[in-house]
Order: sequence, then C-alpha cells, then structure tokens
Amino acid sequence: MTSYTKRVLVAGGAGFIGGNFLLRFVRQYPDYYFICVDVLNYASNYETLRPLERFENYKFIKMDLSEDTEQLLQLTGNYGITDIINFAAESSVDRSFLSPTFFTKNNILATQNLLECHRTSPEQIQTFIHISTDEVYGDEVVRASEKSPLNPTNPYSATKAAVDLIINAYTKSYKLPITVLRPNNIYGPGQYPEKLIPLTIECGETNRPVPIHGNGKNERRYLYISDFLDAVDITWHRSDCAGETYNVGGDVEHEGSIANNELVSLINDVFGCSVDIEYVKDRNYNDLDYSMDTEKLRKLGWRQKVTLHEGLTAIKKLK
Ligand SMILES: NC(=O)c1ccc[n+]([C@@H]2O[C@H](COP(=O)([O-])OP(=O)(O)OC[C@H]3O[C@@H](n4cnc5c(N)ncnc54)[C@H](O)[C@@H]3O)[C@@H](O)[C@H]2O)c1
Repeated sequence: MTSYTKRVLVAGGAGFIGGNFLLRFVRQYPDYYFICVDVLNYASNYETLRPLERFENYKFIKMDLSEDTEQLLQLTGNYGITDIINFAAESSVDRSFLSPTFFTKNNILATQNLLECHRTSPEQIQTFIHISTDEVYGDEVVRASEKSPLNPTNPYSATKAAVDLIINAYTKSYKLPITVLRPNNIYGPGQYPEKLIPLTIECGETNRPVPIHGNGKNERRYLYISDFLDAVDITWHRSDCAGETYNVGGDVEHEGSIANNELVSLINDVFGCSVDIEYVKDRNYNDLDYSMDTEKLRKLGWRQKVTLHEGLTAIKKLK
C-alpha cells in the first residue's frame, strides 16, 4: 500500500459517472490506489466494474455513506486515503418529488460525512472534489457564473445546493481546499435508463413510446462522459484548482441546448429507430433551461471535444 502515490476514495463509484471515472482512471493511474465506496442503489451498475476486480489498485466496499459514519472514518484512516472524489447522491429529479425527505437525508449526510473525514484528517486527505450540478442555479439565470446565487427549484437540486453551501462553510471555517464541479447533463454508456437519453435508447430497443413531460420544449445541455472526465482530471491534478468551483458545460456557441422532443428525433436518426413520444403530465416544476458561463474552466485549457451527435454515435457503437 505504501508505494501508491495517492489513495483515492471514490464515493458513489458504482453509479454512471463514478463507474466511468473508475474504468478510465484505475487503468490510467496504476500508481494510485482506488477504493470505490457505494451503497449500491437501484441506479448502480456494478457489473460494469467487474473487469476492474483483476487490478491490484482497485477495491470495492459496500457502505451507506449517510449512515455508516464511524465505519467511514475508520476506512479513511486504515487505508490512508489522500483524495476523495464524491459522486454519491440520489440523482433523479422525478424521484425527488416523491421522496424529498429521503433525498435531503441521503444527499446531505453522505457528503457531510465525507467532509468530516476531511475536517478531522486535513493533513492526510489533501484533495476533495465534489460533483455538484448546473441545476443549483435554477432556470431563471442566463449564463450563470460560479458566483451566481443558488436558486434550486426541485428537491434534488435543493439538496445539491445545500451541499454546496455546506462545502462553502467547511472551506471557510476549516480552510479546506475543496473543489466543486457543476456540470450540465452528462450522458454515455452505463447510465440508468431513467434519464432521457438512455431511456429513449431503451424504448427504441423495446418498441415503446418514450414519456416526455409537458410539451417537450424544455431545453437541456449535454456533455459526453469523456469530456466531463477530462474536466475532473484537469481540476484534480492542478494545485491552483484546489478550493475553486467550476462550471462544466457544453459549448454554448457551438452547440447550445436542445429541446427534449428534438433530442428524441436526434436519437431516432442516430440509432435508426422510430421512438414515438407520449406526452405526460409535466413535473411539479420543470426548469426551462440551464445556462452557464464556462470561461473559468476553459482558461485551464478544457474544451468540449465530443458533439452530441458524436457522443450518441459512440454509445451506439458500444451496444
Ligand atoms: N448524470 C448527470 O447528468 C449529472 C449531471 C450533473 C451532476 N450530476 C451529479 O453527479 C453525481 C453522479 O451522478 P450519476 O449520474 O453517476 O448518478 P447515479 O445515480 O448513476 O450514481 C450515484 C451513485 O451514488 C450512490 N449513492 C447514493 N447515495 C449513497 C450513499 N448514501 N452511500 C453510498 N453511495 C451512495 C448510488 O448507489 C449510485 O451508485 C451525482 O452527485 C449527481 O448529482 C450528475
């Protein structure tokens, strides 16, 4: 263990983004030791991580981060964790309307327990990266900057905004250099089919219509998983990113946002299927669009490399 240059706790690593993170970086950084900690909820996709079990620098531990505080503190001590990358959260807006209290408890305590590990071992744990979301800004702002006020509109995004504020307090109170990333919608292989892209693809495979909320005109911006992981990699390895917040967004000038019903048409084109839309009752509140200024991240050299068309084509090739 002592020969590893970093010992990285990947919280929520069995989910969509965390799983792709591990599949890439366990191989890319053989001198880092990765521990995936996940409760394994309905959205987890542990099977995609099976190929990593033969790697010596990878381990999985099942744990509820919102409950098992003592066990978590012991784990970070016993394994000499140096870096925490936090993907753990209940991530479905629709489910959050049905179980708002569970979302609050789970999402806030899971992250705050990780923050407690950082607070109590600030010399051992030097890096903490937290994955937030563009949804913390709400939909009433044009080109939100990292300094824009937080204005969440649904129970899920409220928990994400609350965590961002708790991180702000830990950064100020305990001088902890926590990095926060706020991405647009991310898509790619291994995503649970409740988000629109994997759901539409699954509907195409099973000849079902895809349910779309309201009139389908709500707009979203999308980023392919590899572009997001590039942003994690850059901010993880640059010392000047410690303690900073970054918007991570699709290239607005180049590609902009796409309405939900147009996205279904695009998926039909790329996958050669003909999924019909079944318009269903709108969400309690359905944000119209999320628009962010991503200049701060671009100044570090990050660029969106994969267009939506290319990303969908890449998923099709992996099928
Ligand atoms: N996918 C997106 O489009 C998107 C966009 C912006 C931000 N995010 C954020 O990125 C992060 C990862 O998103 P995702 O799409 O991979 O989500 P996901 O739902 O696929 O995965 C989340 C993982 O976290 C785990 N988890 C949840 N609560 C836990 C707990 N108490 N203890 C241990 N593990 C727990 C789940 O079991 C799951 O494996 C989330 O924080 C989400 O809010 C996602």
